[in-house]
Amino acid sequence: MQTDDLDSIARDILRRNDRGTYTIPTSGLYPFQWNWDSAFAAWGFATFDPSRAWTELETLFSAQWDTGMVPHIIFHRDDEGYFPGPGVWGTGTTPPSSGISQPPVAAILARLIHDSAGGTDRLRALYPKMLAWHRWWQRARTVNGTACITHPWESGRDNCPDWDPGMANVDGSNVGPYQRRDTGHVDPSMRPGKEDYDRYLAIVQFGRACGWDQDTILNDGPFLMADPAIHFILMRANRDLAALARTLGEDPAEPEAMAAELEAALPSIWNDHLQAYCARDMKTGTFAESLSSGAALGLLAGVENAAMETKLAAMWDRVAYGIPSNDPAAPSFNARRYWRGPTWPVVNALIAIGLRSAGRHAEETRLRAETAALIRQGGFFEYFDPQDGTACGGDNFTWTAAIWLAWANGANGRD
Ligand code: GLC
Repeated sequence: MQTDDLDSIARDILRRNDRGTYTIPTSGLYPFQWNWDSAFAAWGFATFDPSRAWTELETLFSAQWDTGMVPHIIFHRDDEGYFPGPGVWGTGTTPPSSGISQPPVAAILARLIHDSAGGTDRLRALYPKMLAWHRWWQRARTVNGTACITHPWESGRDNCPDWDPGMANVDGSNVGPYQRRDTGHVDPSMRPGKEDYDRYLAIVQFGRACGWDQDTILNDGPFLMADPAIHFILMRANRDLAALARTLGEDPAEPEAMAAELEAALPSIWNDHLQAYCARDMKTGTFAESLSSGAALGLLAGVENAAMETKLAAMWDRVAYGIPSNDPAAPSFNARRYWRGPTWPVVNALIAIGLRSAGRHAEETRLRAETAALIRQGGFFEYFDPQDGTACGGDNFTWTAAIWLAWANGANGRD
């Protein structure tokens, strides 16, 4: 299909998933506002409706907790088609929301949106909110400077093998009966398994039982793992926030200091055996031993390591399309099961931002061509089989449409 036609389909997907002031990822499977999905949606909107882009971010931050946390799901309206809904989370907030966060990409994308589409006044109002969110990460989600997650969903890479060691120690046997809704929308073989789901729920039930007290969750919760992807994203987001501070005439010292703290903690997630940055169970010290797209996001934070780059290049060469979420050489690799192998256009776009910053334009061009080929052949699906390009998961997906418009169609960069 021609680029112009795909551009108009992508804009149409964003408009159809637009619920006025926020965008749902896709109808049916994900009927609420998701945190990092919205930031990508804003990036897509910025290509044809900058004001709507800022509205997306404003709505996201309107659900910010007093603690600075920005929740991973905001349940603006009820929808029976999703589980676990607001009643299960029981956070008691207005609007109802989940009790965990998601990758802090908002500042990274706000900077790109501002650079390309302006909106200084809107940015100015968002700046203190983004800063408060980054402070929350630093306070409630770092251990000795290492960025951690308290639930696999907080990583945005739900069932990635990165979380296997931590998940193995979560007892999911007492969660009681429940009915999943996701497997009614898409092929169950592409979704996380039942044992995973039991454990996901056990972690949610712990949070709810302690009234979402973040100290209790961090110190005594059932799951705590260092997430290299969040670590790199937060480093980059702090630097971008510092750049925005300078643009706005604010003091950049605090975001700069937070980025420096994260940088100093990098050795804690370096896995010598794997020769890569790697997820780590903070309760046992055990590394996940998985080479994943988490390590590939190092470029976003300007982290380049020759040994790791060699491994990542080999991982990329093992597939035909995009960076896989898990190394095809690993026994845990599954080409279609969500984050256990598939390639995600949205993660490719994020890695591309890193490649561009590092001046690695040939690789960025390759990554964009491979991602664009997936979309041209398969449409705007949630994710893809990296080996044969089969489209997987939900269709008419907001963030795939958004990254097409902002990056993959080639309109905004070099080719
Ligand atoms: C899944 C993904 C997560 C995303 C959400 C909505 O849970 O793993 O990253 O934010 O769906 O698209």
